[in-house]
Amino acid sequence: MMKFQGDHILSVSQFDREAISRILAISAQMTPYAMRQKRCLVLEGAILNNLFFEPSTRTRVSFGTAFNLLGGFVRETVGQENTSLSKGESLFDTAQVISGYSDVIAMRHPKMHSVEEFSKGSSVPVINGGDGANEHPTQALLDLFTIQSEMSPFNKGIDNLHITLMGDLKHGRTVHSLSKLLSLYNNVKITMISPKALQMPDNVVSALSNAGHEVIITDEMAGNLACDIIYQTRIQQERFASKDEADLYRGHFSLNKEAYKQYCKEYTVIMHPLPRDSRPEANELDTDLNDLDNLAIFRQAQNGVLVRMALFALTLGVEDKLQQHEKPITWHTNKNK
Ligand code: CP
Repeated sequence: MMKFQGDHILSVSQFDREAISRILAISAQMTPYAMRQKRCLVLEGAILNNLFFEPSTRTRVSFGTAFNLLGGFVRETVGQENTSLSKGESLFDTAQVISGYSDVIAMRHPKMHSVEEFSKGSSVPVINGGDGANEHPTQALLDLFTIQSEMSPFNKGIDNLHITLMGDLKHGRTVHSLSKLLSLYNNVKITMISPKALQMPDNVVSALSNAGHEVIITDEMAGNLACDIIYQTRIQQERFASKDEADLYRGHFSLNKEAYKQYCKEYTVIMHPLPRDSRPEANELDTDLNDLDNLAIFRQAQNGVLVRMALFALTLGVEDKLQQHEKPITWHTNKNK
């Protein structure tokens, strides 16, 4: 059994189904704290250093919010140019120093495997918040949590689902990590819709096929959306040589309400790791979908707080001490209605 306490979280390859079930169960236990029904100051006095060397809204802020909700302090460093990495300091040396100031570190970096390199110099757990086009393990965990909670009203679990991944599957680290996690489940059918040049890497497809899952690879949206979950993604412009090259693929798979009604099942749930590119030339998920109950994208982003709270509790070894650190909420909040 994975011990978690003191462990780095670098890749979804670290997890088996038992470890995932544990993370998702503890994430659910975090709901009353995130909904401000109670406080839980189990990490009072602990320090998270958030090191984000690539733009982020959800991951950085939800890591910080999750840590604050458990009573800890958060220090933020944004942009490599604001650190001594820009003076030639190595990731190893930076990790030696920053880990001396921290109890846990969350890090995003544009280069593949750089978070792992950093972790080798760290004396405290390092959590990967995205390393280039490689992986985004905490996103994949919150995606699984979302799939589980969105499918629960239909009496479906993750086994036996039909999930469609769509968009830039070559560069999208969230779909790489999610696919690897799905390969641990049973009888999942995965449809992968992308331009031919942006298909899912072979090693990710093999992980699914070798686990016995049906994988359909196509560049056609029409006729391929009658599934349980659509997981739409953005063209990852930052991974292309130029904007002009990214523009070649933008807007190929825009989903709007008309297409949803025409091609999807009545209950198909729409997910997206966000940000969605809402510029007219991309329009990945049209804003006319916003009033659709099955659009789960903002519930999905909210679930990031729960899953990151669970990972902090597990890596810092306090997951069994939540209840004894509970306190009442003393201020007005609209959240706990
Ligand atoms: N989903 C995600 O990683 O979003 P951010 O880039 O805003 O963190």
